[in-house]
Amino acid sequence: MSIEFPRGFLLGSATSAYQIEGAAAEDGRQDSIWDVFCRVPGAIVNGEDGLVACDHYHRYAEDAKLLAALGMNTYRFSVSWSRVLNDGVVNRAGMDFYSRLVDELLANDVTPWLTLYHWDLPAALPGGWTNRDTAKRFVDYALAVHERLGDRVRTWTTLNEPWCSSFLSYAAGVHAPGQTDPAASIRAAHHLLLAHGWAVQALREADPSASLGATINFTPALPASDSARDRDVARRVDGTTNRFFVEPVFTGHYPADVLDDLAEIWPDDLVAEEDLAAISTPIDVLGVNYYTTNVFRAGEPTEPTPHIAAPDAVQVLRDLPLTGMGWEVDPAGLRNLLTWLHADYTGPAGVPLVITESGAAFDDVADEAGYVDDADRIDYLRRHLTAVREAMDAGADVRGYLVWSLMDNFEWAHGYAKRFGLVRVDSDLNRIPKASARWFADVARTGRVG
Ligand code: FCB
Repeated sequence: MSIEFPRGFLLGSATSAYQIEGAAAEDGRQDSIWDVFCRVPGAIVNGEDGLVACDHYHRYAEDAKLLAALGMNTYRFSVSWSRVLNDGVVNRAGMDFYSRLVDELLANDVTPWLTLYHWDLPAALPGGWTNRDTAKRFVDYALAVHERLGDRVRTWTTLNEPWCSSFLSYAAGVHAPGQTDPAASIRAAHHLLLAHGWAVQALREADPSASLGATINFTPALPASDSARDRDVARRVDGTTNRFFVEPVFTGHYPADVLDDLAEIWPDDLVAEEDLAAISTPIDVLGVNYYTTNVFRAGEPTEPTPHIAAPDAVQVLRDLPLTGMGWEVDPAGLRNLLTWLHADYTGPAGVPLVITESGAAFDDVADEAGYVDDADRIDYLRRHLTAVREAMDAGADVRGYLVWSLMDNFEWAHGYAKRFGLVRVDSDLNRIPKASARWFADVARTGRVG
């Protein structure tokens, strides 16, 4: 059965600065917290880092042509804060790179979608996201980038996946800066949301017609059984994973049950009077990143954990296929997520949804020419695109689907072993489109999934 998306539906792919650019010390770029984290022994599989990555910094023109050759109408990339500002002062050479990239995209008829923050905080900012001042610095950064690129970039995302840059980074220690302090992770989460809200206010004032939003990663949490304990553990995981972020952005309140769950460690001095009003400043689009749905049962507490309200959460695998990350393939979870978001948050606010990341790592096998016949990835994408269409048929206002990722890249603490790309990047950094790239190019060109 073939499905079709409406005209103007965004079909493209996403990447992020630290994962692809390389040139980590070139043209005045300073360290981000990821450069520092990569130097911590044992933090990254095989001790890998983003020093060279995919060398996109030098190959951006080739990559823009690749996007066009693959029929993509939209490309979501992120800006490296520590490349464009040095101790708060604009680094012209760093800005020039993004200006050239945007020009190249536009010359190839690919619409740029810019994410300001995809985890690579300047290492020089004291206290990182635990410091309220970092949210103020973020506004300066947002305005500086907008000043240079706002004439050509019309869609701006403040944050990518604040759950990862707070709970996964400051409570579980899995991501930079690698802290394991639950109270610090709450501070980080609130300051990230504040940075988002203040940046939306500032950008709105600077550019009333720009499309502004945030990208939140949603991992629905379901109970393993109907027992009260399992249902409660799933509720608590869902609270800090999903509702902690979407609820204040759309309603101006943190979820009451989450505040109860975290009461003992919630810092009293954290939330100032006008913070939630800023956080709930209206946005124009909600970016949704979806990879999987998780099922939990109540078990023995473990620390450190990103699930700071549910250290007793134990994930249970269902009888579903797994990706190379060990994540369950659950397209129905995406359909249900979009329907829920539309009904409870974005629909009433009149805000459209765009899938800003969806995709899968698999254990790709390349032939002698470097070609990967990745039927598993095609199947994943086909099923998730179908789920999006189903959610739209049920009334959800979804305007686009961007694949994670354009090309194999530095998958954070997993290093380079986990390949999410539609395009293979070999050890000489050649770009070789996989079968999935050819398949997706057809979807992108026709708007149809055959
Ligand atoms: C998301 C991140 C992205 C990539 C994918 C696999 O959480 O936004 O950078 O790591 O997962």
